[in-house]
Amino acid sequence: MSSQTHKAAIVSHYTAKPSDFHIADMPRPVLTTATQVEIKVHAASLNPIDYKRAEGMLSIALPEGFPLLLGYDVAGVVVQTGSAVTRFKAGDRVYGRVDSEHAGAIAQYLVAEERVLAEIPESVGYATAASVPLAGLTAKQALEAGGLKRGQTVFVSGGMGGVGMFAVALARLHFGASEVITTVSTSKVDRVREMGATRVVDYTKEDYTEVLRDTADVAFDTVGDAAIYKVAKPNASAVSVAMLPDGSALEHFRQDRVPLSMLGSVKMAVAKRVIDCAGWFLTRGFRAKNVRYSYVVLRPDGEDLERTFNPLLASGKLSPAISNTYPFTDAGVQAAFAECRGGHATGKIIISVE
Ligand SMILES: NC(=O)c1ccc[n+]([C@@H]2O[C@H](COP(=O)([O-])OP(=O)(O)OC[C@H]3O[C@@H](n4cnc5c(N)ncnc54)[C@H](OP(=O)(O)O)[C@@H]3O)[C@@H](O)[C@H]2O)c1
Repeated sequence: MSSQTHKAAIVSHYTAKPSDFHIADMPRPVLTTATQVEIKVHAASLNPIDYKRAEGMLSIALPEGFPLLLGYDVAGVVVQTGSAVTRFKAGDRVYGRVDSEHAGAIAQYLVAEERVLAEIPESVGYATAASVPLAGLTAKQALEAGGLKRGQTVFVSGGMGGVGMFAVALARLHFGASEVITTVSTSKVDRVREMGATRVVDYTKEDYTEVLRDTADVAFDTVGDAAIYKVAKPNASAVSVAMLPDGSALEHFRQDRVPLSMLGSVKMAVAKRVIDCAGWFLTRGFRAKNVRYSYVVLRPDGEDLERTFNPLLASGKLSPAISNTYPFTDAGVQAAFAECRGGHATGKIIISVE
């Protein structure tokens, strides 16, 4: 642990109260392995996992120590590198979604594994870069898991949320889908067309499961609605990142975390059994239609980020929507978390640190 301090956004206990989110002086993180990179943070983006963790919703899979540092998505400048780091050097501009044990991107400094980082293209700003990693990679990996192919029709629910927006854009730009259908509320209809949607259903006015019945080769749920199977063609595929995860997904959330205590292991085993049973019940509609269904958990991967997103960002073909940018102050952090928790952002929520 460093004797130097820096400022970081934290909560001191599990909480959903906005006023409990604040900036504190914390020990500045230090490199603990040769494969790590220290970053001076310029911008961070928020994701629902940040407030879910703060509220203790992931506490069975990810038991926390406090104060809990917040933020997974970072964009900034490399300050120093471990001796085994090969892709980056001090001064490089990088972005990425850090592992759970390194979370704390809403801060002045952050340490991350080299493998989760990508270089920011020259023409791309820090806020735009910070908007991409978690939501963008989730969208890409989910559509990949759904087996989306060139010329197919894809349905994405919540097409102007963080994940939905990247899924809508990538469906055409990366996967070559011929039709991209999505749901949004009224104020987002025009914006989601600009992101690449070819057909938009305003879910506040129409029942998407009726008007889109049996249309999609791949149906992607980003809002946690088990009725999405109705939109998939029979024998098609469906993926979700927002419905109840399956038991094995809980292990993915843990990634490389420290082992659980005896009591923690028992709680984890019970939780897995309970959610597997609930999941089996929730997904009966998919089975009745022979729709292949899977719950996808994001895999942080800097090279995937670079390969998939850098050409699109650098060419201007992909321009992520920023819902709001907040300052790195107590009030800014609190407002950003309130917007994220509200669940109706238009694209990504940014905290500008530097
Ligand atoms: N499994 C994983 O690895 C993984 C990774 C990333 C995210 N996630 C999860 O995926 C979910 C979405 O994340 P996100 O970052 O995209 O969240 P977000 O940015 O908060 O977006 C939520 C979007 O959902 C829309 N929405 C809400 N209710 C809706 C409804 N009934 N029908 C259609 N759209 C609706 C909202 O738009 P309106 O204002 O139009 O309602 C909003 O744009 C969260 O639950 C998150 O935890 C999981």
